[in-house]
Amino acid sequence: MPANSENYFPGLEGVNVDTTRLSFVDGQKGNLFYCGYSIEDLAEHCNFAEVAYLLLHGELPNQQQIDSFQEELLAERYLDPHLKSIITLTPKDGHPMAVLQALVAQLAMHDKEIADRSLEAKRRKAIRIIAKLPLVVTYFENVRTGMRTVEPRMDLGHAANYLWMLTGEEPTPEAVKVFDTALTLHMDHGCNNSTFTCRVVSSTEADIYSAVVAAIGSLSGPLHGGANERVIHMLESIEELDEVEPFIDAKVASKEKIMGFGHRVYKVMDPRAKILRDLAGKFVVADPEMDKCLKKANLFYKITEERFQAKGKMDIWPNVDFFSGVLYKALGLPRDFFTPVFAISRVVGWVAHHFEQMEDNRIYRPRFIYEGAELGRKFKKMDKRT
Ligand code: ACO
Repeated sequence: MPANSENYFPGLEGVNVDTTRLSFVDGQKGNLFYCGYSIEDLAEHCNFAEVAYLLLHGELPNQQQIDSFQEELLAERYLDPHLKSIITLTPKDGHPMAVLQALVAQLAMHDKEIADRSLEAKRRKAIRIIAKLPLVVTYFENVRTGMRTVEPRMDLGHAANYLWMLTGEEPTPEAVKVFDTALTLHMDHGCNNSTFTCRVVSSTEADIYSAVVAAIGSLSGPLHGGANERVIHMLESIEELDEVEPFIDAKVASKEKIMGFGHRVYKVMDPRAKILRDLAGKFVVADPEMDKCLKKANLFYKITEERFQAKGKMDIWPNVDFFSGVLYKALGLPRDFFTPVFAISRVVGWVAHHFEQMEDNRIYRPRFIYEGAELGRKFKKMDKRT
């Protein structure tokens, strides 16, 4: 352990880096709040636009406020033809998260207000990013599958329009509600890795697009948002229910991480996982394949918990990524779209944190404990090096 290890917090565990008014994660009790409201209330009663408004303005909107906020989002619900042609040229086997990163950088290059650093211009850019992210990935899906291009509809809400553009079919009200709820649950979550990344980049006074590009990269990792795609891959690799137990035992024996379990902050079950599990249970039943997938997920959850508890690991529970994949599969989303769905929701949190960071900004600049070669080594010219 390095000499000054009292200042050493691997993974920044337990370190408070700033204050926030946006969300609070109570890891001991398993509660999550946005601007003081419980996630359960918001998930039940609100849609994407209302919760996005809450995070961006600190208060739930009244009718007039939500109408004008939705108009702002709708006014940005289009993609520049040049951006569409760039998506057409994007490799079809590229991961949609990489497409998102590349296209958000392109959005920045297309934004005529990019150099305007005023708060008003930043707010317009934030709305632009929130409105256009879903279009980028759904348009990419249209292109890579060779289906007709589905244009956005102005008569649909954010969640419904996403499902419409992805499939070319009008979603049922039930599907829209389920998807709205999933988007609400993913919108913000304290100092998670991608939000921290966003704040670190914002702290250099880089533009909001750069902060979002970096945050998307962070979210794509399997230890963060990328876990949801891995969870469904894992569940699909198990064919029958009686194979679940040996699968888990092999993982536990080899000390492999089980995707969709564990969390830095939650010591009990993630409240979002509970809501998603209940939603998946209600939404999935009509389809036999999905019914089997849900049964596998529930059995997997039960046996994994038993194994962790038997090993004395009482604080490893399913996180948000365990049941979200089951739900997205039921909604007909392609597997590599699970993490992008996370991104089109979490982007609201990212931009809200960008604004918070800029309120009283100080550049993030921690330190490393140096453990390298002895200092002052004798320099050798090239011809003297072995
Ligand atoms: N499977 C098996 N063991 C686990 C798991 C898991 N999913 N998660 C934690 N553990 C064990 C570790 O092996 C470790 O055990 P040890 O003390 O005996 O060595 C202990 O629990 C602590 O784990 P860490 O990895 O040190 O915990 P950390 O807080 O650094 O990591 C993380 C949290 C990354 C979420 C971790 O639990 C994990 O890798 N989970 C799987 C990936 C995942 O689902 N990520 C999504 C998280 S939610 C989100 O970001 C949206």
